Amino acid sequence: MLVAGNWKMNLDLAAARQLTSGVVSAIGDPSPVDVAICPPFVDLDATFSILHGSGIRMGAQNMHASESGAFTGEISAAMLRAVGCHYVILGHSERRQIFGETNAGVSEKTIQARKYRLVPIVCVGESLDERNAGDHESVVESQVRESLEGVAIEASSELVLAYEPVWAIGTGQTASGDQVEEMHGHIRDIVEDLFGKEIGVGIAILYGGSVNPGNAQDLFSREDVNGGLIGGASLNAEKFAAIVAAAKSVQ
Ligand code: 13P
Repeated sequence: MLVAGNWKMNLDLAAARQLTSGVVSAIGDPSPVDVAICPPFVDLDATFSILHGSGIRMGAQNMHASESGAFTGEISAAMLRAVGCHYVILGHSERRQIFGETNAGVSEKTIQARKYRLVPIVCVGESLDERNAGDHESVVESQVRESLEGVAIEASSELVLAYEPVWAIGTGQTASGDQVEEMHGHIRDIVEDLFGKEIGVGIAILYGGSVNPGNAQDLFSREDVNGGLIGGASLNAEKFAAIVAAAKSVQ
């Protein structure tokens, strides 16, 4: 089980320090659940110092696919590694929709992230129109296959997927347990096909989209749901800790 908090573009340095300290004390010992927080780039260094020794890991929300060079405003995998990131979220639907990221671009980033031993959290998910048209399984299948094109892993722990239906993100409208279970089963089949059964069966597939302390336990107890990617609720230490406790209760 992995519970990761995606802070998105929230919290300045002082607020990030405060929330990180709050998360560390509210969660205590995270084991046996893997827990991570993913603050904005400028908060990473300070966050890492506070997380030190807590057992809680850190991730970034994006990165550039190139090594270094003339890419004004961008951040490389090596830079993320150097400030202590373990994970990096790639291909979040907000990046795809607002910033025009493509599956091919996500695959380049995923390959680069692995080169620096970052664990990519590759996000996929259909829009409401796609679900209403009955295309959700094929849309997500293309996203998974194309976003992971050329990606090689040697162990399940080297890659995480997150299913985040766009219509459930920040809307309070969580996907039902049955919808989540069905899609996660589909994604499991695809990763087993891509990486072989032995590795595919162990890849964590997170659900994201309006997870809160009230619905986390039901979602996490579903087949092929190996944790959550938490947006809004991760900005509150008590709520985030309650979601981690829900993961512990079903681990
Ligand atoms: P919410 O939990 O706010 O719906 O956000 C989900 C998400 O996008 C996490 O990456």
